[in-house]
Amino acid sequence: MKPIGVVVSGSSPVNVPIHVYKGCENQVMEEAFVIIKDDEKNTDYFGVIRSLRMNDPLLNQSQRSSIIDNPELAKQGREVVFETSYVRVLGVLQPNGQLTPPRQPPAPRSEVYLVESPRDVKLALETGLELGEHKFSRIRIPLKPEALKYHVGVVGATGTGKSKLVVALVNEVLEKTDWKVLVFDHSGQDYVNVPGFEGKVLDASEITLDLESIAEYLKKEISAKEAGEDALYVSLILYILSKGDLRKFSESQDRSITEFAKGVEGKVEVSISENKVGEALEKMPVLLETVDLEEEMKKVKWETSSLVKLFETVINIVAGKSTSKRKYVTFMSLQKEYIESLNKRRISSRDILERLEKDRLVVLDLSTVRQEERKYVVYSVLRRIWDRIDEAKKPVNTLVVVDEAHNYACYQGCYPSSSIIERTAREGRKWGLGLVLASQRMIDFSTDVRNNINTFFFSKLQTPGDLDNLKGVLDLGGVEYDDLAILATREFYFAGLGNPLKYPVLIEVKQV
Ligand SMILES: Nc1ncnc2c1ncn2[C@@H]1O[C@H](COP(=O)(O)OP(=O)(O)OP(=O)(O)O)[C@@H](O)[C@H]1O
Ligand SMILES: [Mg+2]
Repeated sequence: MKPIGVVVSGSSPVNVPIHVYKGCENQVMEEAFVIIKDDEKNTDYFGVIRSLRMNDPLLNQSQRSSIIDNPELAKQGREVVFETSYVRVLGVLQPNGQLTPPRQPPAPRSEVYLVESPRDVKLALETGLELGEHKFSRIRIPLKPEALKYHVGVVGATGTGKSKLVVALVNEVLEKTDWKVLVFDHSGQDYVNVPGFEGKVLDASEITLDLESIAEYLKKEISAKEAGEDALYVSLILYILSKGDLRKFSESQDRSITEFAKGVEGKVEVSISENKVGEALEKMPVLLETVDLEEEMKKVKWETSSLVKLFETVINIVAGKSTSKRKYVTFMSLQKEYIESLNKRRISSRDILERLEKDRLVVLDLSTVRQEERKYVVYSVLRRIWDRIDEAKKPVNTLVVVDEAHNYACYQGCYPSSSIIERTAREGRKWGLGLVLASQRMIDFSTDVRNNINTFFFSKLQTPGDLDNLKGVLDLGGVEYDDLAILATREFYFAGLGNPLKYPVLIEVKQV
């Protein structure tokens, strides 16, 4: 190891000012690892270089110098120029390679050595998921697998390599743990073509949606409120239970539903009293408990005119004299593209979880469905995982990757995916359900989500505000916005619970 400097006055256990030796300026980089050898205390401190500064005792910014009158003087006296820096201590290096918290400041005049390769320091970092190496020393800094269930955030401006980092993480999880990985690929470009992921990709436009997702979507599209909303739910349930053929209801075991359906089948003005509708509505929760609607959904023949007819009938009963009825029905008939796209949906979220169980990896290509719908897909699938957890009360050991997460976990406009992502962020750790959220902006995560992510990778950021947000949730150990601005592709600070060094360090993500 090369000596590169010396500790000067004013050191604290974690922040140690140093002077860099003449001639070493070119080798000392911000974020380089160093060892401070305090011979007095017989202690080695392991740390990282932060805040490099060049100084000239004769050229003080606020004092007039003779150079401004005689520029050639600048060339003279260059020997007095010197470099200073701070070492952020990451720990005291023990003979067994462990790092313990520093309790005493290194003595001034202790020598500082540059760690140039992994051979220079015997660091006993636990084994874990290897996403990259420390930028300068090439020491591998593995992510602790236990941290997966406490969630991982990946933040950086476009092109910094977030999605590639996540690919590296997914590969490591599959190789080194027994966890399963479910990836929501927003753009359909980042994960579907990754070598090794072939055959694991499912097209979101073929996935069944659950009743709520369909109802929520249509409700928004037709701006249905109150009675309109009730009518929408009732007609959808009836339609699904009949698989798109209302005559099937004559076989139904449930009298109120049967009669109600018969009425509908007999078209409109049959003598169905409002009570009957109320009764049917009341019975529905019970009925729904015994039927797996989503599985039924796979068999439904979606036809716009039938559904609209049914909806019209139901709304005539439910909405009485409401003037919005006609509007709802007209809007509903405009939903042809959506309604009939449901015919392509024959893979249920139960099928997806079965695939996940079998293959350990499922990539859902969301790019094939409209932006609005993507949130519902995320919601439906995650909800099915939670249903399983609620039933079995057993860990699921599953990592859920949401790339471009600002579309799914934001404050406003991300319902319903945001609600289930929030629940996962809050409660997932108990059940081995971890999130990996990648996004360009930190601010785009709702507070609940942000506060529950315990490991972060961050690179060049879009705005200083993003760094402030990160500061709010983890100890940045002195990393500033300017440090991030110079980062290149694949360069990320690795910080938080999953980092065995605890303080943020700069890694270069491996090539994938
Ligand atoms: N680990 C890596 N291995 C190989 N190439 C990489 C890696 N990281 C980044 N790159 C290169 O940089 C490009 C951008 O990376 P990536 O798509 O991961 O960025 P991103 O941060 O996800 O961007 P966006 O916010 O636009 O989605 C990649 O297409 C690839 O060429
Ligand atoms: Mg990306």
